Amino acid sequence: MSSTLDRSTTTRTLRRDVSAFLGRVGPLLIGGEWVGSVSGATLDTVDPSTGETLATVAAAEAADIDSAVAAARRALGGPWSRLLPAQRSTLIWRLADLLEANIEEFAELESLDQGKPRIAALTGDLPLAIGQLRYMAGWTDKITGDSLDLSVPYDPTARFHAYTKKEPVGVVGQIIPWNFPINMAAWKIAPALAAGCTVVLKPAEQTPLTALRLGELICEVGFPDGVVNIVPGYGETAGAAIARHPGVDKVAFTGSTEVGREILAAAQGNLKKVSLELGGKSPNVILADADLDAAIAGAATGIFFNKGEVCSAGSRVYAHDSVVAEVAKGMAEAAETLRIGDPLQDTTDLGPLVSTEQLHRVSTMVDEGVRAGAEALTGGGPIDGPGFYYSPTVLGDVAQNSDIVHNEIFGPVVTVQSFGDTAELAELANDSTYGLAAGVWTRDVSAAHEVAARMKAGTVWVNCYNVFSSGLPFGGYKQSGWGREQGAAALELYLETKSVCIQL
Ligand code: NAI
Ligand code: MG
Repeated sequence: MSSTLDRSTTTRTLRRDVSAFLGRVGPLLIGGEWVGSVSGATLDTVDPSTGETLATVAAAEAADIDSAVAAARRALGGPWSRLLPAQRSTLIWRLADLLEANIEEFAELESLDQGKPRIAALTGDLPLAIGQLRYMAGWTDKITGDSLDLSVPYDPTARFHAYTKKEPVGVVGQIIPWNFPINMAAWKIAPALAAGCTVVLKPAEQTPLTALRLGELICEVGFPDGVVNIVPGYGETAGAAIARHPGVDKVAFTGSTEVGREILAAAQGNLKKVSLELGGKSPNVILADADLDAAIAGAATGIFFNKGEVCSAGSRVYAHDSVVAEVAKGMAEAAETLRIGDPLQDTTDLGPLVSTEQLHRVSTMVDEGVRAGAEALTGGGPIDGPGFYYSPTVLGDVAQNSDIVHNEIFGPVVTVQSFGDTAELAELANDSTYGLAAGVWTRDVSAAHEVAARMKAGTVWVNCYNVFSSGLPFGGYKQSGWGREQGAAALELYLETKSVCIQL
């Protein structure tokens, strides 16, 4: 059996503010002005539930990135640098308030552009984005250095006053993906602005809309011109131009591990600072003593939330030998109860994948997995269009060395495997080039700590999954990335430490 798509409610009326925005959106935000791209290049952003174009926006290219970087550089030396920390805080806080005041509009726009349920955007993505802005607004006047007593061995009689001081790293290029567009924009710009940096933000070509609407709010709030520049464009043109730009002091990237490597190579020219939040293939492990109902429900949402287009998706489930049959069956049943349909409808649990490319990528990987011997316990294929829908899929009979266990699928597809003891579990779970996250389901507190300690992952969730909060650092071990976002750790990505040494 497989899940089916509900097409019963296909007529829809957009909010007036959303229609109005779709009518006026287009230019890039550079230096406080809305401008077209120099070459006139544009890109179409598509509604993934219909395949139809939602809007056509300017596509930034190298010349536009040059202008945006120059505007950010001017802003760095302008009034922005003279604002008191508390004044920076007020601006960031005001942006959060404006985002909150327009939350319904943003949720609908995000759902239209990305394909995620409007309700999920309203209750998850947007509150997280608003929370991140407020959390970072609170940091601006709490950024401090240290003072210390020196021991200079070749000048033992000299006395010094020495201190460290934090300064913004400078002009920051930020390249974000299409799975959580507004949330990723907030995760990136909030710590950069709190630290006093200026920003060139490139949203993904698939989902530029909420970032551009955020740009309007940034203008309304009254940030000095050029502090935040928003430049949608393609990765190979706009993204690559940011990564190699000699005027960019730091690049922050979220996306595929493959592109992460390209960013790193491009950053070599001026040795700009780099932080990377990359892919994952995260294990979600269910011990024999787990509360099985909670574990099965948690493992199902761990992969099906946001259609599995989540870097931390629990895409590999490992269940103890004694419960694996029940887990596989329960997850297949959970998949089949998901309501698939128009993401704008409040009853929809699962929307379409973001793009036809992503649908093709997911389909191809699952087909190859099935050809290699895996069995689709439910799902296993796309749902007839229009729209880029894929059936939530549970795969059994998978071999640990198969591609579907190692490659990021980034769709609603999970493999279910068994293990015998904790040593075997740790070996299987850590057998990955990635190390972003892991989940553990157990009622045994010692086992919870033991397994958490053994997971080579930046985040371990116990009896929960995909829990995010602004203060909790998030990032990857191994090839899942460099650096941590959220929490004080995220601020550090945007600060330099200056040591000042004064001889008395
Ligand atoms: P991608 O890594 O190509 O795209 C992410 C961002 O990077 C976009 O803004 C894109 O325009 C930009 N980009 C692409 N090539 C670039 C380049 N050469 N230089 C600078 N920027 C560049 O991801 P894509 O192709 O959309 O998805 C492919 C796979 O990547 C997915 O199936 C998934 O496995 C993974 N992915 C992981 C994400 C995460 O959150 N860690 C997010 C998106 C994709
Ligand atoms: Mg789109």
